[in-house]
Amino acid sequence: MQPRRTASLNQLRTSFNNTALRSHPTPTFRSLFLTALSQKTAVITGGSRGIGLAIAQLFASQGARCTIVGRNQSHLDRALTLLAPLPLASIENSGSPSSTTIRKNHAKIDILVNSAGISGDGLLLRMPQELTNNIINTNLLGTISVTQHLLKPLLQGRQGCIINMSSIVGLEGNLGQSVYAASKAGVIGFTKALAKELGSRQVRVNCIAPGFVETDMTQDLLKRNRDLYKQRVALGRIGTVEDIAQTALYLATANYVTGQVLTVDGCTSL
Ligand SMILES: NC(=O)c1ccc[n+]([C@@H]2O[C@H](COP(=O)([O-])OP(=O)(O)OC[C@H]3O[C@@H](n4cnc5c(N)ncnc54)[C@H](OP(=O)(O)O)[C@@H]3O)[C@@H](O)[C@H]2O)c1
Repeated sequence: MQPRRTASLNQLRTSFNNTALRSHPTPTFRSLFLTALSQKTAVITGGSRGIGLAIAQLFASQGARCTIVGRNQSHLDRALTLLAPLPLASIENSGSPSSTTIRKNHAKIDILVNSAGISGDGLLLRMPQELTNNIINTNLLGTISVTQHLLKPLLQGRQGCIINMSSIVGLEGNLGQSVYAASKAGVIGFTKALAKELGSRQVRVNCIAPGFVETDMTQDLLKRNRDLYKQRVALGRIGTVEDIAQTALYLATANYVTGQVLTVDGCTSL
């Protein structure tokens, strides 16, 4: 009996988010069906896998109309299968994070999450120039150019919200990650400056600095050294994509928080 009741509640929520039920005269009735991101539009780069996908799943479950952006069509297709049962999910393959196609498709965007990113470890002495360029181009310039391309639709609603993905490595540095650290420290500077620039337009800009999170990006390291990484975390476990998604939901709804870096690492020492 329980699953059937949940399904019908979800159906009602979906229609509530879309229809005149939102203006029902009884506040209790309204609050029963109102979800945190009802009628919000979210664009999530890197939404085909890992942290970005978890954010898309949580945002869509909270009523947001999500567009996810990635490079690899099969990853996007798999993400769509996961998102399809959730209300209002939509999918887009921009081919590149700086594509203007997203802007063409959206007159108004409420939330932009810049989660697309790559890692690439190595001592600076041996770091290939091409890898250095890829890391900076994807993590830092990608974040800046997607944001720049989508600023107009973000300014439309006068309550926009940008969430960038940095890393504790961008705050503390880490051996063998100088280029990655530089890209993530750059994201922090970008976040703080843009928060000041867009505050008067009521657009909030924050970033998350995750610690070690279990995704494709960290799979190899975890296979080799899971216990070592766990020992470094005060909470005694590796972070999950859901840990980061919950933080993104907080930032998406925290109306007086801007220009902040939220560390989500279970208290980790690198
Ligand atoms: N995992 C961690 O421990 C950790 C810690 C701190 C910070 N972060 C940051 O969190 C973010 C997400 O990481 P993750 O662990 O979820 O990584 P992931 O599982 O490897 O996923 C990376 C995502 O970024 C997308 N992407 C990469 N380059 C792209 C490009 N040029 N254009 C469009 N999309 C691109 C990928 O798309 P495709 O599927 O098409 O490849 C994928 O959706 C990154 O910015 C990362 O630096 C991660």
